[in-house]
Amino acid sequence: MKITVIGSGYVGLVTGTCLAEMGNHVLCLDVDPAKIELLQQGGIPIYEPGLDEMVRRNAAAGRLSFTTDVAESVAFGEIQFIAVGTPPDEDGSADLQYVLAAARNIARHMDGYRVVVDKSTVPVGTADKVKAAMQEVLAERGAALPFSVVSNPEFLKEGAAIEDFMKPDRIIVGAEDEQAIATMRRLYAPFQRNHERILCMDVRSAELTKYAANAMLATRISFMNELANLAETLGADIEWVRKGIGADPRIGYHFLYPGAGYGGSCFPKDVKALAATGREHGHAMRVLNAVEAANDAQKLRLVDKVVARFGEDLSGRRFALWGLAFKPNTDDMREAPSRVIVDELTRRGAAVVAFDPVATDEARRVMGSNPRLAFAADMDSALLGADALLIVTEWKAFRAPDFERIRTSLKQPLIFDGRNLYDPAWLRGEGFEYLAIGR
Ligand SMILES: NC(=O)c1ccc[n+]([C@@H]2O[C@H](COP(=O)([O-])OP(=O)(O)OC[C@H]3O[C@@H](n4cnc5c(N)ncnc54)[C@H](O)[C@@H]3O)[C@@H](O)[C@H]2O)c1
Repeated sequence: MKITVIGSGYVGLVTGTCLAEMGNHVLCLDVDPAKIELLQQGGIPIYEPGLDEMVRRNAAAGRLSFTTDVAESVAFGEIQFIAVGTPPDEDGSADLQYVLAAARNIARHMDGYRVVVDKSTVPVGTADKVKAAMQEVLAERGAALPFSVVSNPEFLKEGAAIEDFMKPDRIIVGAEDEQAIATMRRLYAPFQRNHERILCMDVRSAELTKYAANAMLATRISFMNELANLAETLGADIEWVRKGIGADPRIGYHFLYPGAGYGGSCFPKDVKALAATGREHGHAMRVLNAVEAANDAQKLRLVDKVVARFGEDLSGRRFALWGLAFKPNTDDMREAPSRVIVDELTRRGAAVVAFDPVATDEARRVMGSNPRLAFAADMDSALLGADALLIVTEWKAFRAPDFERIRTSLKQPLIFDGRNLYDPAWLRGEGFEYLAIGR
């Protein structure tokens, strides 16, 4: 099939590449000329395991190409995926300007039937807005051309995006006309040879499903974070509690890890957007508001511990920080807890030397103007002469570090662990002061 993907970011690029991998012909569009030029030259604008090789292979086979030319992209695919960003507006609701701009572009240039697929995470009712925006442009053109609008939210996880796209748990298709449903079934047939994964439903339910999934996951994290903070006060160990409740199949082990708060480009904005949708329709969404408030507080939890240990004024202190990305296996710094932690430590006068295995360049771009923040080239050099080590992202390389080196590099053997990576009893036995979450 011939497919256009509008927006070549984390979702668009993975979607386009995986569809090309199955033999389709895919053209990826972006408004960012630097991004497209890099892709055309065989480079990759983001870090996503396995993606560079797959992009290169499909580009070399002539199935995957990149453009900034809107007319060319509209002409190319009968299926037009919209995978542009939907950042939060001032009131927390999703800003649809990029989605609607993409929709209008399609209407401006199309010359025959198109299936327009919303892959971006968009509030309930967006498919109707996309349809209306396209109809308006077509009316201006005096062109009575047919099209369908489908909701097909994406559930991939950054860091495991290819695996998730190639072997999805489910493929949600919100569509109301038979022609579009048939097209989507044909498109996704290669992804469900083992068993049926498509859940075909009405458009509004599909749109809401995406927010419901992210809101549920964020709720689990905030719930565990609050419980962890209570466990600390009560003298319980949240890691035992986590295992104890995870063993219940009604609860399960996934997404029960307490830590330094959730971040990333999805949970924070999707929780906000769903709460805004609720407000708009007269529903208070009390649980969601609490999830967000708990997370905001949790991002400062490590700093609270630092302050309790060193005092309010941190001038003259230096901290090593391991992990900048909002989670491992990505360079995504959007809403990363590390940003809040670095801001607060340096606002209090401390210096921070940070190391991340892949997100340093991106971190330098978004936080590099902070004069009290420096970036280390490796784990070890971040430690030298620091008052303590803070762990913010659970990269694999941090799970079994050289503790002897940590001890001899720091001014004192002191670790603030925002991801509960180590065994407290063992570390304390080794003479470390170890302050983790909920233990
Ligand atoms: N990142 C994730 O893990 C993830 C997972 C599931 C869903 N989503 C959703 O997918 C959507 C995209 O997220 P992302 O992380 O890929 O964003 P991103 O910021 O990485 O990529 C969006 C891209 O769209 C481009 N763009 C903007 N307007 C355009 C236009 N009119 N025409 C062409 N290109 C345009 C931007 O230049 C950018 O490259 C969001 O709604 C997000 O919530 C993201």
